[in-house]
Amino acid sequence: MKQFSNQNDLKIALKEHSGKRIGFVPTMGALHSGHASLLIKAKAECDLVVCSIFVNPTQFNEAADFENYPIRIEEDLKTLQSVGCDFVYIPDNPEDVYKNEQDFKVDLGILDKIMEGVKRPGHFDGVLRVVKLLFEIVSPTHSYFGLKDYQQYMIIKEMSRQLKMGVEVIGCPIIREADGLAKSSRNLLLTLNQRQIATTLIKTLRYAHEYYDRFETRELERICLTMMRQYGEPEYFVIRRSDNLEKIDSSYKGEIRAFTVCKIGDVRLIDNLRIR
Ligand code: PAF
Repeated sequence: MKQFSNQNDLKIALKEHSGKRIGFVPTMGALHSGHASLLIKAKAECDLVVCSIFVNPTQFNEAADFENYPIRIEEDLKTLQSVGCDFVYIPDNPEDVYKNEQDFKVDLGILDKIMEGVKRPGHFDGVLRVVKLLFEIVSPTHSYFGLKDYQQYMIIKEMSRQLKMGVEVIGCPIIREADGLAKSSRNLLLTLNQRQIATTLIKTLRYAHEYYDRFETRELERICLTMMRQYGEPEYFVIRRSDNLEKIDSSYKGEIRAFTVCKIGDVRLIDNLRIR
């Protein structure tokens, strides 16, 4: 595996592989088996796999969240080796990523105006800024994202489409612990007790799955929020169409997901589940 700390060297190395299927997995490090699953899929589908590790400052709307974000480069490099990653880009500083930034506009409709878009103002602007730059640096043919951040996946896919970036954005299944907790770098920040309480997210999502036919959608959202309040501080629990994140109306017969964010102590956890 080759490691790059600046984009110029990475671009030179990538030139030798032009015309190949380049699979790209952008990350913020503290890699877990969720990330590994994206890299393994990329490895199976592409000729060359590139990963980036960059804790992007522009997507954090709270300074403390940015400062507490776990950093474990040594362990990450071992994980990357073990899954056969070819190139890893770990920029020396944010300037290396942001230096060629140009303004751009995309019309995301409601996609960035609900759920995380409301709760974390500016977050998606930061995500799109960095992912666009990383796509420009790596020029991947395929890029892999976990569906835990379903809204992020939808928004990046839409950006890539509107800006004609030529990147196929692929959403990959959520990887869970044995008790159902979605794998997340933030799980490292939970105390033992909080770790147990954190299963409330998946338990409530599974409840919504089981009782979807029994309640009217708004009522079920309210019940699930009340359930979660006994254990943590839920920010939202909403049920939406999977294809465009619009509310459900009676004529819609397609796939539906429940989305939630809940704070357990100071740790903000996100999850979703297909419920129809
Ligand atoms: O999902 C993440 O880890 C980040 O939002 C991403 C896509 C790497 C951009 O910084």
